[in-house]
Amino acid sequence: MNIRQARLEDLPGMQACNLHNLPENYTMKYYLYHALTWPSLSYVAEEHGRVVGYILAKMEEPEEHDGPEKSEQVPHGHVTSISVLRSYRRLGLAKKLMLQSQEAMSTIYRAAYVSLHVRKSNRAALSLYRDTLGFTVKSIEEKYYADGEDAYAMQLTFNQS
Ligand SMILES: CC(C)(COP(=O)(O)OP(=O)(O)OC[C@H]1O[C@@H](n2cnc3c(N)ncnc32)[C@H](O)[C@@H]1OP(=O)(O)O)[C@@H](O)C(=O)NCCC(=O)NCCS
Repeated sequence: MNIRQARLEDLPGMQACNLHNLPENYTMKYYLYHALTWPSLSYVAEEHGRVVGYILAKMEEPEEHDGPEKSEQVPHGHVTSISVLRSYRRLGLAKKLMLQSQEAMSTIYRAAYVSLHVRKSNRAALSLYRDTLGFTVKSIEEKYYADGEDAYAMQLTFNQS
């Protein structure tokens, strides 16, 4: 299994992997936006040229025209989506994909922390984020998902040294 930075030709495979695994789906334009804007933050796990897992991530950077609330935020990474095909789970792939992206957020973009949302019922992902990677729950966002389920908003602060 090879873990490497996502390339433009991987995007259809990433989208296919997402459609298999998650109800939160995105347009190809949104994948392209991530890959072109923050090329070092998205990764794939591939086997024989097939995408079997991916992480799609971005930076949240306050811009000059943002209002006071947003401009107080520090630059931070955000995981838009991560998934691993069913038969490739519990091999440590998601952990590796997360660590690769986090490393790039911290070293390339000087991100102070990484954030993400996860369904309250998603025990596998919660365990990955909280127990394996050390994320903490910052808040609960009620009815965050289209089907009405609440999300945990989670964060992990980077050690700037
Ligand atoms: C969540 C998901 C990405 C984890 O992928 P994975 O490659 O199987 O995860 P890893 O093998 O890296 O697991 C790392 C740790 O996470 C935890 N974990 C992963 N899957 C778990 C499960 N089914 N139950 C409990 N803990 C789990 C464990 O602590 C695991 O460490 P261990 O195997 O040493 O016990 C995968 O289950 C998936 O694609 N799910 C569907 C999509 C999804 O829910 N994405 C997240 C949306 S927020």
